[in-house]
Formats: sequence, structure tokens, C-alpha cells
Amino acid sequence: MVKNIAVLVSGGGTNLQALINAQQRNELGGGEIRLVLSSRADAYALVRAEKAGIPGCVISRKEYADTAAFNDAILNRLQQAEIDLVVLAGFMSILSGRLLQVYRNRIINVHPSLIPAFCGDGYYGLRVHQAALDYGVKVTGATVHFVNEITDGGRIILQKAVEVLPDDTPETLQRRVMEQAEWKILPMAVSLICQGKIDENGRVSK
Ligand code: GAR
Repeated sequence: MVKNIAVLVSGGGTNLQALINAQQRNELGGGEIRLVLSSRADAYALVRAEKAGIPGCVISRKEYADTAAFNDAILNRLQQAEIDLVVLAGFMSILSGRLLQVYRNRIINVHPSLIPAFCGDGYYGLRVHQAALDYGVKVTGATVHFVNEITDGGRIILQKAVEVLPDDTPETLQRRVMEQAEWKILPMAVSLICQGKIDENGRVSK
């Protein structure tokens, strides 16, 4: 069964690119990226979508009166495109309301740490890696998880550990976590879900 996938982005879109590359190698478990939805008009991720021939659209929080209206606009766009699976790949707005109910267990997110470390409100992008360096952890990584009402609190699907090196800056650590973890486990999780191999608790079935 082919699953229609939407990827939600806000920035550079390297995780989107990893998904596009996996799709081109037929490694998304039958899933097809049908829509790239950005919260920012200037996100480079939209250029990546265009180059790959995937429809893109912009839904920006500041164009809506409140978060409910913003979330409903996203929900409408997803339903219009008959999306089955929503992938947050560097999407910097928090989803809430009816959207989360309608797409329960069908929204996943990639987070650049080993949850439950360095996650929750305020932990995004380089801030996550700065926090890991400040704490002095020797190992960090990335997590793919289901999205629910708790920021970064949904059931965990996949994780991968990455070594922290003595001279790391937030930027070098971010790059290593992306290369060694995010760009691998995100396409892998999408593929497993599209093949029906992940249950609602995030467990991988045979
Ligand atoms: C990625 O590192 C992703 O894990 C992180 O933002 C970056 C987006 O990069 N997401 C979060 O911090 C969410 N809490 P990309 O646009 O190049 O994929």
C-alpha cells in the first residue's frame, strides 16, 4: 500500500533531502512524498522540494489569528492532499488541537538528542547541541518519535547514539548527529511505518 507523506519543514531541509534520496532509491517502504509544507517562505527546504518535483506550500503562523486557526489551516491542507503520514523534519512550530487528534499516531518528528535528554519546550536546533555540550555528555544522538500533546513526549520509534568529541562546537556536533543519526533513522522510521511495521507504542513488529 502506498502511503501519501507530507514533510513539514522550516529551514534548510537536510532531513527532507535524506527522505527524497531514500524515495529515489525506493527505500521509503512504498511511501511517496506528496507535499512539503513550510512554516517559512524563505526555507531552503522549499527549493529542495521544487528540484525534486514535489509540490510545496507555505503556512506561516503570523498569517493566522491564533494557533488553533494555524493548526486548522495545516490540517485542511493535509486532508486536501489526502496525506496519511506527516513527518516533522526541522519544523519549528508546535502542533496542537484537532490536527493532533485527526492524525494521532500518524505524525512523527526527528529530534537531535537522545530523548528524554535535552528535549521539550525551548530545545530545538543548535540549542539542543549547546545544552549537550554545556552538560558535558560524552554521547548524544537523535530520536524519531510519535508526536502528541507533550513536546517531544510521544512514544519513541528509533534512536541512534553519536559520540561527542572534545573539540566539538554546537555546529560540528549538529553536523555529526545529522550525518550519523538523523539522516539514517528518519527514512528508516518512515519506511517501517509505511510497511505497517510500527505499532502505536513505537514498537517494531516482525
Ligand atoms: C535538525 O537537526 C532537526 O533534528 C532539528 O532541526 C534540524 C533541522 O535541520 N529539529 C528540532 O530541533 C526539533 N525540535 P534540517 O532543516 O536541515 O532538516
